Amino acid sequence: MRKKIVAGNWKMNKTLSEGLKLVDEIVSSSENNSVLKIIAPPFIHLASIADKLKGKEDFEVAAQNCHQVESGAFTGEVSAEMIASTGAKYIIIGHSERRIYFGENNSLLAQKVLMALANNVIPIFCLGENAADRAANIHLDVVKQQMKESLFNLLPADFSKVIVAYEPVWAIGTGVTATTHQAQGMHNFIRSEINKKYGKMVSEESILLYGGSVNAENAKELFACLDVDGGLIGGASLKAGEFGAIVNSF
Ligand code: PGA
Repeated sequence: MRKKIVAGNWKMNKTLSEGLKLVDEIVSSSENNSVLKIIAPPFIHLASIADKLKGKEDFEVAAQNCHQVESGAFTGEVSAEMIASTGAKYIIIGHSERRIYFGENNSLLAQKVLMALANNVIPIFCLGENAADRAANIHLDVVKQQMKESLFNLLPADFSKVIVAYEPVWAIGTGVTATTHQAQGMHNFIRSEINKKYGKMVSEESILLYGGSVNAENAKELFACLDVDGGLIGGASLKAGEFGAIVNSF
């Protein structure tokens, strides 16, 4: 049975006191204990939020990025080892905002995935096509290439730890969600590619999240899709009531 996960990516939002308050509110609004909730605040809040959630088995903390090397003279950067030392167990890697605004490409992201795994932190690896790719009907090829270049170099034991988040770029922060048909279609494709590379057992155990304008209204039908194991939530994760309603819609 695959774990159900709802992860909230706060992006560059919330001061420390606002973040701590939001966590309290999220804990009280997320009643469904069978769902793992992952909170991804900015780096600077990780340790405080991880401390606050210590002992709550259905809550974990994630970073939104990490650097690709272990340590060194990289002013302003944060390593996977530092992230692990705060108590965070997950790192979002390859979010489309990192790809678009910070020029992160598939091969760089492959290094970040390795660095996370080397520090026992689980990558939540984001992939997905943009609007032009979908219009040109090359969305499956784009996603296949992203998997091939960033993940399929991993040994099966390592790959099986990775969570994949399908986030069509045209759905992120736009209010335009993928239809259940589009989401399930892509998730099924991703699982079948994993099956081809790593076999049935790994593919059936792989956790696949959907992200892109998930809200309290559309979460239920998206989570009901056979190959959708949960969501990566942006905007709606900043409102405890909305995030809780998404968690509770499983
Ligand atoms: P959104 O963002 O829910 O605001 O569309 C999703 C994401 O960026 O992960």
